[in-house]
Formats: sequence, structure tokens, C-alpha cells
Amino acid sequence: MGAVSGSESSWCSTIGLLAFALGFALWPFTVTAVLVSEKELSNPEHGRRNLHDIGGSINIDCGIQKDSSYTDEKTELQYASDDGFIGSGENKDISSEFKTETLQTSLLNVRSFPQGNRSCYTLKPPRGKGTNYFIRATFMYGNYDEQNQLPEFGLYLGVNEWDTIKFENASHVVIKEIIYAAVTDDVYVCLSNTGSGTPFISTLELRHFDEKSYNQTEFTALLLYRRYDIGSTTGQIVRYKKDAYDRMWFPYNLPQSRPINTSSEIDTLNRTEYQLPSTVMNTAVVPENASDTLHFELDTGDPTLTFYPFLHFAELVKLQSNERREFNIDINGNLWFQALAPKYLSSTTINGSGPVRGTNLSFKLSKTQSSTLPPILNAMEVYRAKDFLNMPTHQDDVVAIMEIRGWYELSKFWEGDPCLPLPAWDGLQCSDNGYNPHKITTLNLSSRGLTGTIHTSIGRLKSLQYLDLSNNSLTGTLPEFLLQLPDLRAANLSGNKLSGSVPSDFSAIIGDGSLSVDGNPDLCVTGPCKKEKKKKNLAVPIIAAIVSSVVVLIVLAILWSYRRKQRMHRPKQSAKQVARTHRQGSGSLKLDNRHFTYDEVLRITNNFQTIIGKGGFGTVYHGLLSDGTQVAVKMLSPSSTQGSNEFLTEVELLMRVHHRNLVSFTAYCNEGTNIGIIYEYMASGNLAEHLSDKRKDTLTWKERIQIAVDAAQGLEYLHHGCKPPIIHRDVKTTNILLNEKMQAKIADFGLSKCFQVENQSQSHLLTTVVGTLGYLDPEYYNCNRLTERSDVFSFGVVLLELITGRPAVIKSEGNPHIIQWVSTFLGRGDIRGIVDPRLQGNFNINSAWKAVETAMACVPLNSNQRPTMSHVLVELKECLEIELAYEQRLEMQGVLMESRNTFEMSPLGSEIETMPLAR
Ligand SMILES: *[C@@H]1O[C@H](CO)[C@@H](O)[C@H](O)[C@H]1NC(C)=O
Ligand SMILES: *[C@@H]1O[C@H](CO)[C@@H](O)[C@H](O)[C@H]1NC(C)=O
Ligand SMILES: *[C@@H]1O[C@H](CO)[C@@H](O)[C@H](O)[C@H]1NC(C)=O
Ligand SMILES: *[C@@H]1O[C@H](CO)[C@@H](O)[C@H](O)[C@H]1NC(C)=O
Repeated sequence: MGAVSGSESSWCSTIGLLAFALGFALWPFTVTAVLVSEKELSNPEHGRRNLHDIGGSINIDCGIQKDSSYTDEKTELQYASDDGFIGSGENKDISSEFKTETLQTSLLNVRSFPQGNRSCYTLKPPRGKGTNYFIRATFMYGNYDEQNQLPEFGLYLGVNEWDTIKFENASHVVIKEIIYAAVTDDVYVCLSNTGSGTPFISTLELRHFDEKSYNQTEFTALLLYRRYDIGSTTGQIVRYKKDAYDRMWFPYNLPQSRPINTSSEIDTLNRTEYQLPSTVMNTAVVPENASDTLHFELDTGDPTLTFYPFLHFAELVKLQSNERREFNIDINGNLWFQALAPKYLSSTTINGSGPVRGTNLSFKLSKTQSSTLPPILNAMEVYRAKDFLNMPTHQDDVVAIMEIRGWYELSKFWEGDPCLPLPAWDGLQCSDNGYNPHKITTLNLSSRGLTGTIHTSIGRLKSLQYLDLSNNSLTGTLPEFLLQLPDLRAANLSGNKLSGSVPSDFSAIIGDGSLSVDGNPDLCVTGPCKKEKKKKNLAVPIIAAIVSSVVVLIVLAILWSYRRKQRMHRPKQSAKQVARTHRQGSGSLKLDNRHFTYDEVLRITNNFQTIIGKGGFGTVYHGLLSDGTQVAVKMLSPSSTQGSNEFLTEVELLMRVHHRNLVSFTAYCNEGTNIGIIYEYMASGNLAEHLSDKRKDTLTWKERIQIAVDAAQGLEYLHHGCKPPIIHRDVKTTNILLNEKMQAKIADFGLSKCFQVENQSQSHLLTTVVGTLGYLDPEYYNCNRLTERSDVFSFGVVLLELITGRPAVIKSEGNPHIIQWVSTFLGRGDIRGIVDPRLQGNFNINSAWKAVETAMACVPLNSNQRPTMSHVLVELKECLEIELAYEQRLEMQGVLMESRNTFEMSPLGSEIETMPLAR
């Protein structure tokens, strides 16, 4: 029973998942690097470090003469020209009126990029991928082009958007800094022309950080938002050599505060991993009034942005034995760090345990009861978190296309990653399913004046569908690899200087027009070349006969597989036809096992004795197979005529999808009006019951997130693991079933659609909208536009239900939809108001925030703004990890109660969360 057919499961693959797992593996935190830095730190001789000791730095003064370099007077850093890092662009000097005495040398000239949509610098950080870098790009317009027109353009790091470059005026120096763990050995800094002026750049610098400082989470980069030297007495920007990493510290004083300083050095013996400059740390502020608090605000203007503050402290006053300086740090009214007592002349960095957010970040440092002295603050940094979710183009394709680029000398036009950011390299098109890394599908080098032979690396672009090399001067013979590219649909080699005879294997694809070789006068398409001696021998006709029968076989095979594919898109086939095709397709499979007679159905359900559910077009009964396996039997109600199509769709889908998070198909019954599906029995019922039924034990937070991860995995597989992708169209809590181990599986594929699409970002216009109110994607509902993102919307609603324990819509007047309901709490930053009160606060606050954020990210009205299920899955897994780590910590602290399900236990609230709070 329920044998899984090998040929069917091959329709769906786990390769996608593997690729994703590999993506994770690209983020190693190397043990050796940490050891080295620890050794360095404990070395008393180790004083101020030099940038060159820290694993190398790259200093490029963009726009200076080729091969030139100089040493900057202030920083003593050596800057070099940008040749070797970029091929495109023009060097320009800024207008003389902006060349002031005090202007930094590196701002005197720029490199501008009037041609092409995207220009990229290629940096090769000396320590390779997986390490933490900080990159600073500096821009000053200075009317270099005499146009008096401030441009605006995009800045990218690799394949992800970093920022937008905008200017207030021509002398405005825009500095962008980013901390980033490189995923590839080559780091691309790209400027993209967005149609608002020519991109240019003044300076580009890269520095390496110690692994342990400024750790960001996976898929996140940190953008510098503020970096202040607080209480500065000089009013000067501090950077290298005072700062070993060449961070730039801007002088800043807080309102209602009093600067204090010391002439002593800070951190003379031990430096922290942050390597803070003594000049920055030996000035600070305390409140004007000794009894007051230090209070200041940063206006972020955007509640959706996420910030990571790093506050730096050192005691500057030698305290008497009866004196004590100890204070708490609040951000936006939430305790962020408790009872901090800075050490004398030794720095401490506090970065809390997670991000903060709000249109306004309000910091408050107030002394504790046991403190005799007011709080102090020496320096601070605030970084904005930026999701870096795009993955670089598939590395096999990158390697191949780089060789092609070198061979035909195209590096001037082709810079950075081949496919991203959009547009791809001129002449390329790439696949994008929002999940796997991009692959090159079109290579068009028509009319590029190419010479030489057709490079074999083209044959390594395994996803190539269209190849156009027409109207060049390519020589040599027709490459064999054209026959080996599995997806190749058309190749145009016309108008070249190819020669030799065409192997007969090519005749079929030349014949059907998919390969064009016209206009190659020296190529002998039919028969052997005239120049060659005609060697007539007996073998020829035999070979020809063999070849032609091989061709016939291949054509038959193609036709057969085409028909198989066709079948997948004909949902209105009868189940019998489905079974018959299957039987023909895979003779050895005992598909008859999957067909039950009505009598058998009566027997296994004991005459439909136990109803376990009611669906839209039928009833679900409990059944028992002869081997003791429990099953669910869904019978189409005889009165329902429109249900039969859905039913057949479901049979067909269930037969070909296999995943641990989808309910598995056992058999079907199709006798006259008695139509039924027999599938896996899910002992714990559906998710909706667990969330609403007061009699059941409340699901714990961990269980909820696990269920969310399971369900997300199922959907993710439908969207990205199946070919063609499947859109469920009816994701809701009643269609998520739980087995006895509380493992969740997606059920009910009656409304599902599968699409064969060329370009998967395409959407589909459908005449009828189906789904369930409350879960229905508003864009799909209003515009009939169906994409995978419609399921993402519905899944977002399910997530919100899991988090809040509330139904999607409450059937009474004036009750808002769950999205609005959550939004109002979110506006107030009230996470505990959102999470199901039945949990009594037994959850990790950061895990909860992440869950809410993930859910809300799924439900924007515009489907383009929603993430893919793959991204949702990554976020949910992180949520689960945060919760597991938190529970482990509690367990270690010995405060975890025996049972997590009883309501009597005392709430494990903020009292126990001794770690600094995120909000
Ligand atoms: C140019 O803009 C910067 C940044 O807003 C500002 O600090 C500076 O005063 C402006 N300079 C002029 C000449 O307007
Ligand atoms: C410390 O502050 C005093 C004034 O408050 C100032 O005169 C002195 O130069 C400062 N010392 C340092 C090392 O900045
Ligand atoms: C390749 O580009 C040329 C124009 O540069 C265009 O005419 C041709 O249709 C393109 N070929 C393909 C296969 O897209
Ligand atoms: C062929 O390429 C040349 C440049 O190499 C171009 O001038 C010409 O217009 C192209 N012809 C066609 C038919 O595309």
C-alpha cells in the first residue's frame, strides 16, 4: 500500500534544498581566526595595531591616473589608482572651485560611468570569503562633469542592494560604510544607473575586522547609521592611525550633559575585540545635573528599519571606596542592559542581545539605587541591519562565463556578478525562481565582432536555452557540446566563418530550425566537404541507417516525455486515465494497489462509521486497512458535481508529490458516483482545532514554531521543489494536519494549480478566484493574478493565527481582520499584547518578534513585496533556533518547570531574562 513510485518522485527534487544548505555553509566562522585574535589580545606587547597587521586593507582613490599611488598625509595610508579593480569608466577631476585647501586628496578626482547600466569594482579581500569586512565608499560630486546636476544612483555590494547615493549639494561628501561577511572570494562593489544621472565614485576602502566584533546574523549586513565620539574636546574626526580599523568617529555632545576627560590612555594592557581608539574613549559625558539621567534620541523616521546599537563605556574617574557608578540602559522604555559598571580606563562594549526599532530611538541611561555617581557615555555606534538575501549566480555558470569573458575580451562590458543586480550582463538572461541561485539561460553575443573559435566553456552553461553567436567572425568547426546542452532550444551561429563538415548528429536540429548555420560559406552542411576526397564505402549507408534509426528513437523518446509532461497540465483527466497512463509509463509499479473498489472502501471504513472531518465537497471518514494501518477516507458527496474536478486534481497531485510535510496519498476509489481518496491518517487532527479548541492543551511556543516550520517546508517544496511549481491556493489552518507526533503536513490539494512557466516570476490570469475568505490574497482576489506569493499571503495569515491564537476573521461585526489587529499592537511595539495570552509569557521575546516580523512580511497587499517560501522558511528556522537556545539557557539555570503545558506554572517573564533585552 502506498508504494512510492520512483519515477514520480523524480518530478520533484531536493536539489533546491541542498543548494540552500550549501548557501548556509558559506558562512563559516573560522576557529583559527578567533584563536589568533585571542592570542593577540592577551599579548601585553600588543599596542596599537597597524591596518596591515589586520589582514590587509584596500585603499583605492578612484579616478587618479593609471598606475599612480600616493600616501595620504593625515592617515599615512597608501592609496592606489583603480586600474586592476575595474575596466569601465572615465577619470575626471572635480571642478576647481571645489578644490579647497582642506579637501582630502582622495576627493579631488572621481571615476564616472557614463556607459552601461552597471559598473562593478572587483575587490579580492586578502582573507577570502567568510570573514568580516568593512567597506567604505565615498562620493563627492564637485561638479566634475560641469553639468551642475546632482546625480542619484544605486550602490550594490555583490548581488544585494546596499544603498542609494543622493547629494544635498556639490560639496556634500557622502560616506557609506557597511560591515559584511563576504560569501564569495571576490567582492563586487557596483554602481547602478537608475536613470537619474551618471554614477561616479571618489574613494573605495576595504578593511578587515576581528571575527568577534560586530557579529551580524546570517543574511544580514550592517550599514553604518551613526558613529559618535562623545564628549570630544577637539571637535575633530578621529580615524586611522588613532583608530586601528580606520573607523571615522564624529565628535558629538549630548543635550544636557557635561563633558569629562582624562589624559590617561584607555585599554593600555588589554584591547577588546573592538579595538577602540584611546582618544575616543578618554572623553565622555555625564549628566549636567549629578542626579539626572543621560537621555538622547535618534530620529530614524521609519518604524520598519532595524538597528543594532553598540555603546562603548570606560570609567574615567578613579573612584573612592565609597563611590560607585552603576546604571541601567533603556531603549524606547525597555530595559536594554542592566546594572552596568564601567571599568576604570578599560573599555566595555554593550550591544544588547538583539535589534531595536522605532521611528525614534530613545536612549536613557539612569543610575541604579546603589550607585552614587551618574551614568557616563564615551562613544556609540548605531548600525542599520540590511537583509542580504540574494544569492550570487550559480558558481558553475560564473566560472564558465568568466572564461568566455576572458576568451572574447568582454571584461570591459561585463563586470560583477553575471545575473545580479538586474539587469544581467548585456547579452545574458538568467533564470530566477526566487529560490535557487540564478543560472544563465540566454547567451547572446550577436554582432560583437567576435573572433577565434567557439569556446568550449559555453557547453558548461548547463541551463542554456538560447545561444546567439550570429554575425561575428568565429572560426573552427561546429562544437559538439551543442548536442549535450539539455535545455538548449535554439542556437544561431549564422554569419560566421565556421568550417569543416557538419557531423550527421546535427542534421536533426538543423532540419527543424533550432540550429541555424546559414552564412558560413566554408561549412559543409549536406554531405562531406567538396574539398575532402569522397571516400565512398559500404559502411556509410549502414552507419546512416543506424544513425537515422537512433534519430527516430530519440524523436520517439522526446515525444513520449513530452506527452508525459502534457499529462501533468491536464487536470480534467479522469482518474482512470491517470492510472492508465501511469501503468503504461511504469509497468513494474503495482498501481492497482492504489485503486480501491467501493466495496473495499465500505469495508475499511466499516460502512462509513466514524466521521473525522467535513470538507468543502465531501466527508472524511476513519478507515482501517487490513494490515492495521489507519487511513483517512475522503468521499466526494454524490450531490457535488463541481467537486469532481477538484477531486481529480487532488488525486493527480497526490500521486506525484512526496514530501514529509505533505499528507501522503494511499489510494483512490472511482466507481460511478462513488469517488474517494484514501490518504494518510493524521491522528492529531487539524491545526485550527488546536488553536481554537479550549479543551485541548495549548500548543507551546516551540510547538507552534515547529508546526510553522513544517508547514513552510511543505509549501516551499510545492513552490520550489516541484517541476512545474504547484500553487496550493487554499492554505489555511484547517488544511494543516498534525500526526501523533504533532508533525504538521499540508493537506487538501483540491484547488491546487500547477504551471509550466518559462519565467517563473510570471503570474497567471485566472477567470475564477478560489480560496477561503480571510486567507485570500487581496491581489489575487482583485486582479485574478495568481502567483506562488498568493500562498505566501495565506501562510502569513496562518502564522499570525499561530502567534496570536486568534482566528483570521471573527464572525461578528466590527471585528478587524487578524492583520489589522496585529498591526495596531505592532504600532505600539507591544509584542506581549500580540502573542496568545494562553502562553502566559512562556516564550522568548526575540523569537516572538522574529515570528511576528516574518508573518507580517508575508502579507503586504502588493505580492512583489512578499518573500518567497524559501525565505520564510529560513526566518522561521531562525525563530526556532532562538527559542531552543533560550529554553536551553533556562534549563541550565534550573528554572524550567517539569511540564511546559500546565497553566499553573509561574510565568517565565522578563524577571528571568537576565540577558539584555532587545526592546
Ligand atoms: C552641503 O550639504 C551638506 C550636507 O547637508 C552641508 O553640511 C553643507 O553645509 C552644504 N554646503 C553648502 C555649500 O551648501
Ligand atoms: C579636558 O577638558 C578640559 C576642559 O574641560 C580641557 O582643558 C582639556 O584640554 C581636556 N583634556 C583633554 C586631554 O582633552
Ligand atoms: C540577440 O541580440 C540581437 C540584437 O543585439 C537580436 O536581434 C537577437 O534577436 C538576439 N537573439 C536572441 C536569441 O535573443
Ligand atoms: C553585423 O555586425 C556588424 C558589426 O560587427 C554590424 O555593423 C551589422 O549591422 C551587423 N549586421 C546585422 C545584420 O546584424
